Amino acid sequence: MSTVRHATKESARREFENWAPSYDRSILQRLVFGPSYRAFMEELVRWRLNDPAPFDVLDVGCGTGSWLAMIWSTSLPSGRLCGLDYSHTMCRLAADKATERGERRAAFFNGDSEHLPFADGSFDLLTCSNSFHHYPHQAQVVREFRRVLRPGGRLMIIDGFRDNLIGWVAFDVLVTRREGKVYHAPWSVMRKYYVDAGFSEVTQRKFNIWIPLFITIGVA
Ligand SMILES: C[S@@+](CC[C@H](N)C(=O)[O-])C[C@H]1O[C@@H](n2cnc3c(N)ncnc32)[C@H](O)[C@@H]1O
Repeated sequence: MSTVRHATKESARREFENWAPSYDRSILQRLVFGPSYRAFMEELVRWRLNDPAPFDVLDVGCGTGSWLAMIWSTSLPSGRLCGLDYSHTMCRLAADKATERGERRAAFFNGDSEHLPFADGSFDLLTCSNSFHHYPHQAQVVREFRRVLRPGGRLMIIDGFRDNLIGWVAFDVLVTRREGKVYHAPWSVMRKYYVDAGFSEVTQRKFNIWIPLFITIGVA
């Protein structure tokens, strides 16, 4: 079983190593990834609008770092902006983006969502968009996410919503055919991961009609 799971992670790494150079030009930026960053931003602004304290962010499965770039382009009082990705090339492109813009708060790490190279309670916000379905041990990952969050910190995960017909066709049929061994956790399963890992105030919302996505938020 664990060999099959290992193969799953390696196939994700191969897929994204190949995709990384053209990732920012993909049509999916407009259809899926861009709407995801905007959903994160709406939630972040709602949460931090009246709080002037700096906050530290970790984005897991950060890809080319576009979501963190969106944060550093605002006047929000962000502290450290860390990205972690299993693909070395994704990390390098994300780091180049930060360097080009002279962004010193950003740092990128090549690593696995299951073993985050950070001490307990290191971040105020952990985000993860369109990456979670690649993780073979999802419950363990959510516990790991909670470990690195400070008390009162937020976890926001966005992934494909496959609980209606459109979502089932998009994710369980088409994406699975393209990406192979992936698992889009249903709405109720995602909620259970959060509750079992000890998150409180768990809320969920669906967005994006034709390629439906959902965001799950919890408080550590
Ligand atoms: C579809 S991309 C999403 C990137 C970015 N979050 C976005 O929304 O544009 C999925 C990313 O997850 C990363 N990934 C896959 N498995 C991972 C793992 N086990 N740990 C960390 N990152 C992983 C891939 O390398 C890829 O960059």
